[in-house]
Amino acid sequence: MEQSVLAGKTIVLGVTGGIAAYKSVELLRILQKEDARVRVVMTAAAARFVGPLTFEALTGEAVYSDMWSRADGDAIRHVTWARECDAIVVAPATANTLARLAHGLADDALSALVLAATAPVLLCPAMNVHMYENAATRENLETLARRGYAVLAPGSGFLACGDTGAGRLPEPPLIADRLAWLMSPKDLSGKTVLVTAGPTREFIDPVRFISNPSSGRMGHAVARAAEHRGARVILVEGPVSLPDPPGVTVKRVNSALEMAEAVFASAADADLVVKTAAVSDYRPESAADQKIKGSRNQLSLSLLPNPDILAELGGRKRAGQLLIGFAAETENLAAHATEKLAKKNLDMIAANLIGAADSGFSAETNKVTLFTRDGSAVQVPLMSKNALAHLILDHAVQLWGKEKG
Ligand SMILES: Cc1cc2nc3c(=O)[nH]c(=O)nc-3n(C[C@H](O)[C@H](O)[C@H](O)COP(=O)(O)O)c2cc1C
Repeated sequence: MEQSVLAGKTIVLGVTGGIAAYKSVELLRILQKEDARVRVVMTAAAARFVGPLTFEALTGEAVYSDMWSRADGDAIRHVTWARECDAIVVAPATANTLARLAHGLADDALSALVLAATAPVLLCPAMNVHMYENAATRENLETLARRGYAVLAPGSGFLACGDTGAGRLPEPPLIADRLAWLMSPKDLSGKTVLVTAGPTREFIDPVRFISNPSSGRMGHAVARAAEHRGARVILVEGPVSLPDPPGVTVKRVNSALEMAEAVFASAADADLVVKTAAVSDYRPESAADQKIKGSRNQLSLSLLPNPDILAELGGRKRAGQLLIGFAAETENLAAHATEKLAKKNLDMIAANLIGAADSGFSAETNKVTLFTRDGSAVQVPLMSKNALAHLILDHAVQLWGKEKG
């Protein structure tokens, strides 16, 4: 599973007649960026909010909205599209459409297609808070959830209608993420995965610290991928500016000492620990209580070594637990990585040479070599951190398989 789970898949995007229909355009673009083929079905009401032409221009395919039209020569498009799709996402889903789906109506293109589909369906309700809280809507959603439809709860806040409360369509990246979750095989179900991410900050005084450029992207990618694949995921992260991955328990820390404490508190339960955090090796011997005033005189810092979290985890590792580390090196990649692998009792290490713009700190992509205990070295081509995260988890699944076998 090297690419996004959406890559090469055919997704039907159902758009219904709500204010949030404009967000469906962004959702379409995100799905297309993940290399999905997207077909759009609109209700008649939806076409009053967003022009079908926008979707047609972006997909290069006619929007399906009139069940009786034979414009493209397919008289039973609701069945054909239902059969050919890998998943359906209805965003936004109006109260009206939810009612129709809950009652099995099939009197327009979208409801007929959903009824004819056997692929997974994600419904994203969006409406006025009182419409959402109305017993009719609640019961319709309960019925649909009971029948196996995935429902993404709307966000809360100030709504377009002027009311405040639940009913806002979640942002398109979250919808795309939940669709990927819905479509992912759950091969990590029952497993607990602990991931660390980001840099640490070692304060010198209240306004200055020692840190590094780690963005936390690699760790977030691993946490998201593991959650998609059914694991219970705990993410311990230093200061990063990334939104929390959905469905993941996030513990925020600042210093290496805090990171050590949080990691050791969760490690015993973890079946897999993936340590992507760039933890500072040293901390100032003492942090000043007040800002150190700039006298322009030479200043020396006395640094103490921080605990080696990875080595400590290696020492505590229990049977069946896997420990995967990362190594960013500037030279002698294989020698340094394999030495770290052995010294810290790791099962696998993902090592990269830093310095290239497309790899390592802050980049969206990474190019690593995976070294394992049995002496194998797999050179992974440049790929997105998301794809690399899945590849690393694939290796973890294989390693568990080998242990069992
Ligand atoms: C300006 C306007 C905004 C609307 N916004 C919503 C909405 O956000 N959610 C909703 O469930 N219905 C909303 N409605 C009502 C639906 O458009 C209406 O129930 C329609 O029949 C839905 O049809 P459909 O489910 O076939 O798309 C809105 C209506 C108007 C006139």
